[in-house]
Amino acid sequence: MSDALITVENVFKRYSGDEVAVKGVSFEVRKGMIYGLLGPNGAGKTTLMQMISTLLAPTTGYVRICGLDSVDDALEIHKIIGFLTTEIKLDPLSTPDELYDFFARLYDIPEETIEAKKEKDYGRFGITPFANKRIVELSTGMKQKVSIAISLIHEPPVIIFDEPTNGLDILTSRQVMDYLLELKEEGRAILLSTHIFSVAERLCDEIGILIGGKIVEAGTAQELTEKTGSENFEEAFFKLFKEYSGEE
Ligand SMILES: Nc1ncnc2c1ncn2[C@@H]1O[C@H](COP(=O)(O)OP(=O)(O)OP(=O)(O)O)[C@@H](O)[C@H]1O
Ligand SMILES: [Mg+2]
Repeated sequence: MSDALITVENVFKRYSGDEVAVKGVSFEVRKGMIYGLLGPNGAGKTTLMQMISTLLAPTTGYVRICGLDSVDDALEIHKIIGFLTTEIKLDPLSTPDELYDFFARLYDIPEETIEAKKEKDYGRFGITPFANKRIVELSTGMKQKVSIAISLIHEPPVIIFDEPTNGLDILTSRQVMDYLLELKEEGRAILLSTHIFSVAERLCDEIGILIGGKIVEAGTAQELTEKTGSENFEEAFFKLFKEYSGEE
């Protein structure tokens, strides 16, 4: 049996008419591993991440999370994944504290442990001074840090983050990347999407290059660089993009 916590098997997604956003994607993410989907705008990253996190059903193919089916066992899956998408926003009129408490109770975190856990999570990302401000008043980076803290409140073994460093400055981006590496060390299975080479190169044990709804090549940044006869990973991506983006 495979030790994959995330299994994506020949997944297709057709939205309507002829628009096929994801065209036969397969890969696995194991415990203690970061898998990155790297692709340009419109490649299908968000569509794929939403299928993996049960928000969308695949048109064909299947997704399993810890052996559970993304369509039949969606409710069970919610308990074991931490999900961050570019599409879902925090309630603008709530405060970080209100949201944190709400989600802590939703996930049955024991009442007496919430404050200590909150202090630790807030401390990591410098959220404390903003705890009672409304979300609408926070900067993009602070909103993202609050979203990350809340999405991981139940300490899920599987983490699915769509563009976790999008819109963040290099300092905040680095904080988020360092945190993801810590979570990997703890043995979580992490799937992230990005269009930023340096994020993929620094974090990922395996990178799937997603172009036009297909993973056209996969491997470590070094393997992809060598496979394409490139000087560096950025050049490898451009070569693959040039080769595959003109398809159909
Ligand atoms: N709800 C929808 N209905 C119809 N088509 C959609 C829908 N969402 C996305 N698409 C289409 O599916 C394709 C893939 O979009 P998707 O948002 O998954 O790409 P992405 O890789 O996340 O892009 P980005 O880097 O811009 O976030 C695009 O052609 C897009 O127009
Ligand atoms: Mg997207």
